[in-house]
Amino acid sequence: MSSKEREVLVQIDHLKKFFPLRKGGKNAAVRAVDDVSINIYKGETLGLVGESGSGKTTLAKMILGLLPPTESTVMIDGKDIWNKKEQKELRKQIGAVFQDPASSLNPRATIYRSLERPLEVHGYSKEEAKKLIYETADRINLGHELLDRFPHELSGGQQQRVSIARAIMLQPQLLVLDEPTSALDVSVQAQTLNELLKLQETYGMTYLFITHNLSVVRYMSDRICVMYGGQVMEIGNTAEIYADFKHPYTFGLITSAPPIHPSFRNRKKNLLDGEMPSLVGDGKGCAFASRCKYCQEICRTQRPEMKQVGEEHFAACHFAGEIEF
Ligand SMILES: Nc1ncnc2c1ncn2[C@@H]1O[C@H](COP(=O)(O)OP(=O)(O)OP(=O)(O)O)[C@@H](O)[C@H]1O
Ligand SMILES: [Mg+2]
Repeated sequence: MSSKEREVLVQIDHLKKFFPLRKGGKNAAVRAVDDVSINIYKGETLGLVGESGSGKTTLAKMILGLLPPTESTVMIDGKDIWNKKEQKELRKQIGAVFQDPASSLNPRATIYRSLERPLEVHGYSKEEAKKLIYETADRINLGHELLDRFPHELSGGQQQRVSIARAIMLQPQLLVLDEPTSALDVSVQAQTLNELLKLQETYGMTYLFITHNLSVVRYMSDRICVMYGGQVMEIGNTAEIYADFKHPYTFGLITSAPPIHPSFRNRKKNLLDGEMPSLVGDGKGCAFASRCKYCQEICRTQRPEMKQVGEEHFAACHFAGEIEF
């Protein structure tokens, strides 16, 4: 389906989050999310990738209504998540799963209690809650005997399944998954990813799937958004992003990440050297300029616009479509 026919669930226009710095003058700030505009369509999985510090979690938190934007807002199903009147109702529509399941569960509460608590908040009776908890546990293969245990009595994979159960109980439209399987063993990782795919089909949920892992994001996503230095570098269909990327950063990310995908073994590589630059500058130019081997004068002085380079494929590079990778 092309994006024109799809309904937008999450709409983000020129969203910014700057964290002020104590040192360095009154305008000094970390530009954690710097002018991001993306749509997430109903029923799709949008994968969000980028190196550590590129602003993925900051963006996710603004979408979840957990971190107020510096500029602009996040519209979910046409409603503003930062509008106090809408927020309570909208929060029911959004679930979140984070990397470390243990830290998101209360160590002194049984699993059952951890699942019951959010239902209470939303006005469910004890009986209604019980029914829903058992139903959800069955959906994600969480044995009922685990419900009476405490978090430390569960394996990492089981704990993460509890976090997923809690996130989907109220049948949210949108599930934000921030490195949901990074802390798990590889075998458990695969199982959890497959369960997530199954759940998405059952409930028709929309996923924002954040990860460092390029194999995982490829497996999970319909489209992929590549972030760097708080900015979107490239966004497009998964297949196109891997086979026909147009941004030097995407090239670097895909060909530097171990294990290199078989289709790249015999191809030119663009190993990413150095580290992500400070995000404290004036925000002029392309965020990737200092590490880009194709960098020209204009890249340091002028922020590239998003250029359309395919049917549903955009890249923020002055030379998108002109560089032979
Ligand atoms: N509360 C905060 N105060 C100040 N700076 C912050 C805060 N939260 C994040 N940052 C900074 O914002 C930038 C983006 O951080 P963020 O956590 O969003 O990156 P990320 O892409 O999620 O990284 P990772 O892959 O390591 O999780 C980083 O430079 C980070 O240090
Ligand atoms: Mg993060």
